[in-house]
Amino acid sequence: MTNTATITAQPTQVINRETASQMSNEQLVKLLELKNPMIEDIVYSDPRWSELELVDAGEVFAPHIPKGMFKIQRPKHRHPKCIDSNPTYIPQRDVLRAILAWWCAPTRKLSLFMFGETGTGKTEMLLWFADRMNWPVSLTAVNESMRPEKAQGSYILFNGKTPYRYGSVASAMKYGWCQIMDECDKGSGDFLSKLHTPAEYKPWQLDDTGEIITPHKNFRFCATANTNGGGDMTGRYHTSQRLDEAFRRRFAFVECDYPSAAVEDSILSASYPDISKGTRHKMIKLAGQMRLALRAPQLEAKATTAEALKKLALPDERLSCAFSTRVLVAWADYMTIFGVKNVPLRESFDFVFGNSLDEADEPAVYAIVHRIFGESFDHPDGWNEANASGK
Ligand SMILES: Nc1ncnc2c1ncn2[C@@H]1O[C@H](COP(=O)(O)OP(=O)(O)O)[C@@H](O)[C@H]1O
Ligand SMILES: [Mg+2]
Repeated sequence: MTNTATITAQPTQVINRETASQMSNEQLVKLLELKNPMIEDIVYSDPRWSELELVDAGEVFAPHIPKGMFKIQRPKHRHPKCIDSNPTYIPQRDVLRAILAWWCAPTRKLSLFMFGETGTGKTEMLLWFADRMNWPVSLTAVNESMRPEKAQGSYILFNGKTPYRYGSVASAMKYGWCQIMDECDKGSGDFLSKLHTPAEYKPWQLDDTGEIITPHKNFRFCATANTNGGGDMTGRYHTSQRLDEAFRRRFAFVECDYPSAAVEDSILSASYPDISKGTRHKMIKLAGQMRLALRAPQLEAKATTAEALKKLALPDERLSCAFSTRVLVAWADYMTIFGVKNVPLRESFDFVFGNSLDEADEPAVYAIVHRIFGESFDHPDGWNEANASGK
């Protein structure tokens, strides 16, 4: 697009880079309602969005980073593409540290690849981080049938004309946003091969217009996936593709495992204070046991000695379904909605998880449930075995 575009928004109002620069941020944002690709380009190119300010990392990431330790740069103005994230999200310390180091480094040789089992908080972690950093986000849910135009852009019909509208990655790269390719390993080879250039922060030529997009200094390219790009070894993620080696080498990798029991305890106690401590601990223990039963084959294969195997304390059951933090939080949520003190725990559990189980998994899941909850599972939270038998 040209730098001298002059567009008439209303019959009396001429919008170009110069007049836009006289407007307040709010007025600029209002212009986006016109949905005019040329005006969008003028608004998003306004240099105010790129201004960074030095702030205390401890203020931005309180209480997860102590105050006064170091400073980081973040955009001064809240951009319309900033996404409000889950206010109850609790980051895992090592994941936060890795993302922070990558994000705030003076140069970026590699993009960021976050991988881990479903429901471990990968997508929300990136959204939470970007939100705290005031960073605009372009979030793309990748799927097998996605075409390169989605990333680059295409000509659209607008007011009888056919202007070009940038796609997700082209916008993020040009204007300095964070591009999140969510579930990246679900993309086709055709689609992903187009992303090699943005992933290594090199100038990117758009197929349709020939325009060359040079990466903005605030551009960040991140991907999430269930595998580290090596393809699925577990059988759980059969739509995950093995990524091209050339694509993988353009990333630094951060694993997002299930949060520790302590973090999951904080997540539940902060958002669901009505659930008793005893039940909360059992829920978290159950999640831990289910995950061990899920990963047992891989863990067994890695244990080299009988002692190491014993130390793992694996349950006897074997599962193929993932009891993630997503499921745990959803269970707490429905337990509360159904009525913690009135409805048996089993009802909310079956609602969010139990009813979806395969025949092969069902007995193993309920064996674990029974071992941890015993009879209390068929009663609301607060039911006490001793009282019940004394009645
Ligand atoms: N660290 C966390 N703090 C709070 N909630 C979390 C956390 N991790 C996961 N969750 C819960 O799990 C859900 C799924 O997270 P999400 O980021 O979509 O998982 P993923 O992208 O790994 O599949 C969230 O909506 C939230 O309810
Ligand atoms: Mg996700």
